[in-house]
Amino acid sequence: MSEAPLIVADELQCLFTVRRGPVEFIRGKASRIHAVDTVSFTLERAEILALVGESGCGKSTVGRMLVKMEEPTAGALTFAGETVNALSGARLKEFRRRAQMIFQNPFEAFDPRLTIGTSLQQAMQIHNIGKDQHDRLQRIVTVMERSGLTPAEDFLSRYPHELSGGQSQRIATVRVMLLSPEFVVADEPVSMLDVSVRADILNQLLDLRDELDMGIVFITHDLAVARYIADRIAVMYLGMFVEVGPAEEILANPRHPYSQALLSNTLPAGDEDRITEPMPIGGEVPTPVDIQPGCRFANRCPFAFDRCFKETPILQAHGGKTEVACHLLG
Ligand SMILES: Nc1ncnc2c1ncn2[C@@H]1O[C@H](COP(=O)(O)OP(=O)(O)OP(=O)(O)O)[C@@H](O)[C@H]1O
Ligand code: SF4
Ligand SMILES: [Mg+2]
Repeated sequence: MSEAPLIVADELQCLFTVRRGPVEFIRGKASRIHAVDTVSFTLERAEILALVGESGCGKSTVGRMLVKMEEPTAGALTFAGETVNALSGARLKEFRRRAQMIFQNPFEAFDPRLTIGTSLQQAMQIHNIGKDQHDRLQRIVTVMERSGLTPAEDFLSRYPHELSGGQSQRIATVRVMLLSPEFVVADEPVSMLDVSVRADILNQLLDLRDELDMGIVFITHDLAVARYIADRIAVMYLGMFVEVGPAEEILANPRHPYSQALLSNTLPAGDEDRITEPMPIGGEVPTPVDIQPGCRFANRCPFAFDRCFKETPILQAHGGKTEVACHLLG
């Protein structure tokens, strides 16, 4: 097994070029959406990093770049010491097994025309897992029953639309287990599910991490869920990491004004263990189009001063393990 960190993201950037409205069409102009800008971090094996932040801040785009579903505009990504940007052929196919994605909408993971049994067998076959069809089927039944999907045979012949959201997400997790990846991006995997099944799915992911030493990037807009599952938290705002560090440090003592606002809105004192939907933060969320220098949170920040509108703060440590991007901290 490689000694290199599982994931090293080095100044990842993802810009989308779009024409906004008829004026841009007529003039042949285009706008650049800074979905993700210079995001750098490291993820170790068996580590869970939660990406949190409001809708549109770039969480999914980071996740999609990490599993090579989206190509970065700039920056480098390495996976277990290997450069991901350049992967092709057999190495790329192997990467597709080793790095998996669990979606918010579990139905996206399955072809609606295939039964669950066929979908799971196909996924294993593509990656040469199992000796033959019988062996694959036996492995599927074993993993499904371990995941509480009993009797497994009842589920194998069903089509995706015949399952509840919770059952589908459980089967999406079974699919991950069958492929034994080393890395998973879970993009809001519980936000569409009933509260009653959320903890089950989160515990299933925690078990997977323990069994496979799997690293997980867990995307959520709910800090209570991040508290439950993550070792580290990265708070995102308009395409950038504004604070990243150990979960307990950030949750106990958020230092970036945006993290402070996010936390005060989602975790009222004495209610830290709940798993619920967050409340929105006041003020207008700017769109990440043709971004200017300065702090991206400046128009909503109660502490903003001159420098904030001119100079982009850099993510750095200020004592302790947490890194923060804010001029207030020097
Ligand atoms: N294919 C695309 N083309 C143009 N813009 C895009 C595309 N994908 C994402 N964006 C834009 O990039 C920004 C980041 O989007 P992203 O989906 O990564 O955010 P998010 O944090 O996952 O949001 P949510 O919490 O709503 O899922 C948004 O402004 C979004 O509109
Ligand atoms: S850099 Fe300035 S505007 Fe940005 S969060 Fe810090 S104080 Fe607020
Ligand atoms: Mg998203």
